[in-house]
Amino acid sequence: MDKTEIGRLEGLWAGEFGEAYVERNKEAAKGRDAFWQMLLAKYPVTSALEVGCNLGGNLTWVSQHVPPCQTYGVDINEHALARLHEALPHVNAIWAPARQLPFRDQWFQLVFTAGVLIHQPSESLPLVMAEIVRCSKRYVLCMEYFAQDVVEVPYRGHEGALFKRDYGGLYQMLFPELKLVEQGFLTKDQGWDDITWWLFEKTGTLAP
Ligand SMILES: C[S@@+](CC[C@H](N)C(=O)[O-])C[C@H]1O[C@@H](n2cnc3c(N)ncnc32)[C@H](O)[C@@H]1O
Repeated sequence: MDKTEIGRLEGLWAGEFGEAYVERNKEAAKGRDAFWQMLLAKYPVTSALEVGCNLGGNLTWVSQHVPPCQTYGVDINEHALARLHEALPHVNAIWAPARQLPFRDQWFQLVFTAGVLIHQPSESLPLVMAEIVRCSKRYVLCMEYFAQDVVEVPYRGHEGALFKRDYGGLYQMLFPELKLVEQGFLTKDQGWDDITWWLFEKTGTLAP
C-alpha cells in the first residue's frame, strides 16, 4: 500500500493546519442541537463514538443524550482533544488515527463521522470505513459532502485534501451488512455546511 498520501494528510491534520482549524471552529456546536435531538430521540443509544471529533461540535450535544462516560471522541489533533477535554471533561477524548481505532469490535452502539471521510485519501478510506463498521454494534452514521462521482475540491491551498463522493453508496457497496435506515440533508441555515447524512443499521449483530 502507498502510505505517502495517508501520512501527508494525517500530518496535515495533526499539525499547524489542524490547529488553525480548531481556532476557526470554536463555535462549531452552534445550531447543531436540533439535529442531534431529533436523531437520538428517534434512535436512542447508550454509547457513541465520533471519529474525527475535533473540539466537540457534535459531542457537545451527543453527550446530552448518551450517558456521559459512554461518549467517546477520537482525533489525530492533540490541540483539538485538549480543547474537548477542557470543555467536556466527562467525554472520553482519545488520540488515534481513524484507520486504527483502539476499541474492541462492536464496542459502541453508534459510530459516526461528520466531515472526516471527505479528508481521507483513497488509500485509507476503505480502512477508515471498515474500522467504523467494526467498532459499531448497531448504528453507523455518515455525515459528509455528497457528489455522485468523486470530485476533488481544493481545500485551503492544499490539493488532494477534500473529496466529495457518494459516501453512503460506498458504505453499502463495501459493507452489505449495513441497512439504510434514514438519510437527509442539512443546510447552512440549519448550522451545517450542506452535508448529506446516512444512518445505517448493522444487520446480524443484535441479539434476538
Ligand atoms: C473538518 S473537521 C470535522 C470536525 C467535527 N467532526 C465536526 O463536525 O465539527 C475534521 C476532523 O477530523 C480529524 N481528522 C482528519 N483526518 C483524521 C484521521 N485520519 N484520523 C483521525 N482524525 C482525523 C481532524 O483532526 C479534524 O478534527
